[in-house]
Amino acid sequence: MASPLDLSSLNLGGVGSSSEASRRESLGQFGRMVSSVRRLLGSRAASEVMNSAPLAEGLKRQALAIMTTRPQDFEGGYARIWLVKNVPEGEVVYAIKAAKKESEGTPSHEIMQNELFREAVALKCLKHPNIVELLGTCQHPSLGIILVQGLMDGSLHELFEELEGIPVTTVHHIGCDVSAGLRFIHHQHLTHGDLQEGNVLYRKEEKGTFSFRIADFGSSSRVGERRPPSGNVYLPPEVSSYWKKQFSAHFVSKPSACTESDVWAFGAMILRLLLVVSPAELGLWISRLARISIEEERETEAQCLERMSGLAVREQKLCREPVPDNLRDWVHGVLRAMSGCLSLRLESRPSIDEVNRRLQDISLRMVSPGKDRGGKQKAE
Ligand SMILES: Nc1ncnc2c1ncn2[C@@H]1O[C@H](COP(=O)(O)OP(=O)(O)OP(=O)(O)O)[C@@H](O)[C@H]1O
Ligand SMILES: [Mg+2]
Repeated sequence: MASPLDLSSLNLGGVGSSSEASRRESLGQFGRMVSSVRRLLGSRAASEVMNSAPLAEGLKRQALAIMTTRPQDFEGGYARIWLVKNVPEGEVVYAIKAAKKESEGTPSHEIMQNELFREAVALKCLKHPNIVELLGTCQHPSLGIILVQGLMDGSLHELFEELEGIPVTTVHHIGCDVSAGLRFIHHQHLTHGDLQEGNVLYRKEEKGTFSFRIADFGSSSRVGERRPPSGNVYLPPEVSSYWKKQFSAHFVSKPSACTESDVWAFGAMILRLLLVVSPAELGLWISRLARISIEEERETEAQCLERMSGLAVREQKLCREPVPDNLRDWVHGVLRAMSGCLSLRLESRPSIDEVNRRLQDISLRMVSPGKDRGGKQKAE
């Protein structure tokens, strides 16, 4: 009997299985995934990915042993995640990502595999200090695709809990890092498609600073690729049916992936981190900004940003970490840099290059006492 540790690389020629029937089924699934991923990156790049990024033998055996002997640390919508921290000195720490078991209420195994394959293909092309690192992939005959990624300390959700709110200088740092990662993704003619706090990971560096990386590329697409609309509230109106009621007169669903949708999701995430309001209240602020962008509000954008700054300043004072003396300038600066990201009109949204430039400008203008330039705040 083939052992569950008997993994072969993502290379089709190396797919191992216990019987000819399951081997054929595995190849069939793989073929369907390949055709969908071809649309993502083009056939040449997809085949390059399939034949590359194999996991080192030792790491492969270790990862599989962990998956079979220990419960996962996280379970997301599609995937299970194991965090591997206690390795012998000198060995790398890592996170393992594999599809969830198919059961009632989960997407089909094929859909979950497709997402992981998308992620593997995208990450193979996306080597950047602000994008989660792909250490390698392998294909198991029954478990499917397994990804091994660089280990981080958690997502922004966990950071928010740990710090009891995120100080504005750290939000600014998140903005600079995430927009730099997103700019790199967009320059490769790809989109992320699912940007939100759970998909941005942080790490406390030795120097006491934070670093941030974008993760979860299961919804990544090539620009222009057709994608089904989603119900997720944190996605933009052209993608999320959630906004349909709010903007019925202007609602235009856009089934093909575009970089402007990521810019909207980025702006909404920064707003959520600063305002700390309930989803319903956030929805009101976002729709107010959207209505201003189509001139359906009496209030101007500057007035709206001013009111949001007041709210954010109050929230910032509740953070456990110290906030800068020139708190209001920081808050207003970051919110102003986001202006236009939540415009209802795609063509009015700034590019992520522009957003990153605006955020970098704040670093040049503002030096918070006792802190580094660039908002690199001490972690402790
Ligand atoms: N490399 C990593 N290092 C540390 N933690 C990680 C890593 N990758 C994922 N996690 C943790 O696991 C969670 C889920 O990961 P991920 O978003 O990749 O899976 P998912 O199934 O797509 O989740 P969801 O459907 O909820 O978006 C993250 O929010 C994070 O807390
Ligand atoms: Mg996720």
